[in-house]
Amino acid sequence: MAVVGATGVVGETILRVLEERSVPIGKLGLFASRARANAVRYGGRLLDVEPATDAALAEYDVVFFASGEDASERFVPALLERGAVVIDNSSTYRMDERAPLVVPEVNGAVVERGDRLFPVANCTAIILCMALAPIRNVAGLRAVRVATYQAASGAGRAGLDELLADERAVVDGLAEPPAHVFPHHLARNVVPQIGQIDAGGATGEERKVREETRKMLGLPELFVSATTVRVPVRTAHSEAVFFETERDTSVAELSEAFASAPGTVFHASGIVTPRDVEGSDLVHVARLRQEDEGSKRAFALWCVGDQLRKGAATNAVQILQLLLAGGFVQA
Ligand SMILES: NC(=O)c1ccc[n+]([C@@H]2O[C@H](COP(=O)([O-])OP(=O)(O)OC[C@H]3O[C@@H](n4cnc5c(N)ncnc54)[C@H](OP(=O)(O)O)[C@@H]3O)[C@@H](O)[C@H]2O)c1
Repeated sequence: MAVVGATGVVGETILRVLEERSVPIGKLGLFASRARANAVRYGGRLLDVEPATDAALAEYDVVFFASGEDASERFVPALLERGAVVIDNSSTYRMDERAPLVVPEVNGAVVERGDRLFPVANCTAIILCMALAPIRNVAGLRAVRVATYQAASGAGRAGLDELLADERAVVDGLAEPPAHVFPHHLARNVVPQIGQIDAGGATGEERKVREETRKMLGLPELFVSATTVRVPVRTAHSEAVFFETERDTSVAELSEAFASAPGTVFHASGIVTPRDVEGSDLVHVARLRQEDEGSKRAFALWCVGDQLRKGAATNAVQILQLLLAGGFVQA
């Protein structure tokens, strides 16, 4: 098994989740953009990383990608050619019709024998789908509107470092260093742009949330409107979700659906914040309510999930566990 991007925030979380879940590994390869000694921790030891190359990766049966689109485009085709299983956190293959976009609790049944390429969906879309799947199951879904509150580490280690540098400068009363990763300074701010804004006014992140949510929920016609916003939170994305169901339902019926939904924690009262869920593999749902008094098809909720875990690394490792459990991959 190999991890490409092992030094990044998602790569290091994949290693933590593999350890926590005692996933059997014969040989572990750790790759990044360049070689470094003692760069990552696994099994209580500091291990070296090597630069990813076709020849080096050819030794592995399962390869996790936690780097960027360039590395996935460069290395994935040859790996698939030689029969390896690829679990890719980048956006490169998410909308490829041949590749299932799997969230085991939502659509694990779409995996077919012979599938070897498994993109991991956008972190915001995964958290959203975990909150929407129980609703889809009991009352159908007609429309979803969502405003997001996304953590700095969603933009990788560089995003987290930029927030920390901004915060330090603010506390010390110094000039903040120029913003590179985010379009504006993030400390004491919220930034309503994640990705490039297109001619129609939507950002790249908003398009991903729409398209990938439809694909994961198996609802290609679902109305999805997103406004994605970066906030000065270190880890865990929050989402304010407004949704319309196909059939009449109630807070009581939806609460019951959440209470038995795998991978979610339902808070019937009170609130939940990103700091409460950092390090958790579960998506938390709270503040479920009618959108207007008496409405039977229009509701709102708040959901929060650690985007490095369920939004990326945990979902990636769960896909491997699903393949192992189904006998698609031999331990
Ligand atoms: N952060 C999140 O919340 C999140 C959530 C879902 C999905 N994702 C996706 O997951 C991927 C990783 O994101 P991240 O946030 O972990 O980024 P990150 O912290 O910036 O880490 C990127 C990793 O990729 C490595 N890398 C870069 N170019 C490479 C190349 N050509 N060959 C091999 N390794 C290369 C880097 O190695 P060096 O250390 O050598 O630079 C580093 O280990 C991205 O595709 C991102 O879109 C991220």
